Amino acid sequence: MFYTTPFCCKHGGAAGMVPAFRVFDLFGLSVTQSDFAVVILAAGNGTRMKSALPKVMHPIAGRPMIAHLLEALRPLTPAATLVVIGPQMDSVARIVAPAESVVQDPPLGTGDAVRTALKALDGRLAPQGGIDEVFVLYGDTPFLTTQTLSRLLAERRRISAAILVAGMRPADPGRYGRLVLAPDGALERIVEAADATPEEQAIGLVNGGIMVIDAHHLRDLLDALDSDNAKGELYLTDIVRIARRKRLFCRAVELPAEELLGINTRAELAEAEALMQRRLRRAAMEAGVTLAAPETVFLCTDTALGRDVVIEPNVTFGPGVTVGEGARIRSFSHLEGAAVGAGAVVGPFARLRPGAVLEDEVHVGNFVEIKAARLGTGVKANHLAYIGDSEVGARTNIGAGAITCNYDGVNKYRTTIGEGAFIGSNSVLVAPVTIGQGAYVAAGSVITREVPRDALSIGRGRQVDKPGRAGQMRRRQLMKN
Ligand code: UD1
Ligand code: MG
Repeated sequence: MFYTTPFCCKHGGAAGMVPAFRVFDLFGLSVTQSDFAVVILAAGNGTRMKSALPKVMHPIAGRPMIAHLLEALRPLTPAATLVVIGPQMDSVARIVAPAESVVQDPPLGTGDAVRTALKALDGRLAPQGGIDEVFVLYGDTPFLTTQTLSRLLAERRRISAAILVAGMRPADPGRYGRLVLAPDGALERIVEAADATPEEQAIGLVNGGIMVIDAHHLRDLLDALDSDNAKGELYLTDIVRIARRKRLFCRAVELPAEELLGINTRAELAEAEALMQRRLRRAAMEAGVTLAAPETVFLCTDTALGRDVVIEPNVTFGPGVTVGEGARIRSFSHLEGAAVGAGAVVGPFARLRPGAVLEDEVHVGNFVEIKAARLGTGVKANHLAYIGDSEVGARTNIGAGAITCNYDGVNKYRTTIGEGAFIGSNSVLVAPVTIGQGAYVAAGSVITREVPRDALSIGRGRQVDKPGRAGQMRRRQLMKN
């Protein structure tokens, strides 16, 4: 059984994070015994997504799906990582850097994509170069873990296979390629769903889209490909049949279907999101976070939640959020690019936008929006406020309805509020402006110049009382009717 393949991790670190077979420590010197290259295919049009965005750029838990794969590969330190992209995919090239991008134009199938990548690896593959295995991955399979990738490499070497393919048995084999095994258990060929006979369609073991290939054979195998199939493409999967014809040994190993989920449609994207969210919520709870209704909380892969954080139902985390120990995020809040300090309380119905930094014990209440602003320890902004491009000193109180006017239609300006200040309800602080330490701003003020330290500033029309005037007005109106 593949999961129990002997696998030792000689160099410490988390089990499975280091490919044990690659590096031997000789008298303190690390010597790379074998180098491998990674080729990630991402040039397909992703037609089934019906999207202007390249398929591999669609995010799952706040991160483009291809970035999940690169993240899993990173600890394995491949000798080269090449991403095959289409001609209008600069966004993919940017996100995968420093991995090299190679353009496949036009996309003539997965076999053609690997051929394109090989041109960029010219001279680096065995027997001329030092790279003696090539890991081919598809950019639309984001659930692979470092541990699994590392084990696949180790397994191919252990059994000296020309090609090792990762298979799975999903509930619905649908459009996946079927793995046809020989009586001795070797992998005989891969048949694409569109080309399969009814008997082949009935095979439950399918191609998960990962191959580890012995670099000595790869070029010859690819040269033998043809497009005599239902799609008229060069299928990478045909190299198994060609290898068998050359009497090379090929093998499939089975992985959990969950890890090999391939995303081709919006429905599969939604399934992937749900699966990733379940993983992230479980990990958060295992790390000591309370999720009152886990299925209603949406996390990003980089959401960092401290111990004893409580997340109430219906909270969404965008990318780049950290929450310190014991903080409480109340219902219906939306956080993105924000840092929340220990013991802080956010929400209900709060919005923290990029650059919001809440130090410890800050309280941000309902319908309060914070953007690019630092709120010092113990600041309270409990109702209906907007604080943007600001620095707010510790223990300052921001009254209901107070806002910073940070934008004049062209430029943004900063507001600085000292420690222990009190900003009265419904005040408008027209930036650039400074409110001194301990100052009071009267409710309803429009503040356009500096408020000195410990001053009380009132910036509003004076109240005028006209005794009896309301009654007179009412009587006049009644007479008119
Ligand atoms: C492919 C496999 C199938 C496997 C499934 C697993 C082939 C022929 N079929 O089918 O056996 O069960 O993945 O998810 O390989 N791509 C290119 N250039 C191209 C064509 C595709 O780079 O010319 C890229 C795509 O962007 C994608 C990947 O290759 O990331 C796979 O292509 P896709 O069209 O999704 O193949 P499947 O039909 O899913
Ligand atoms: Mg696919």
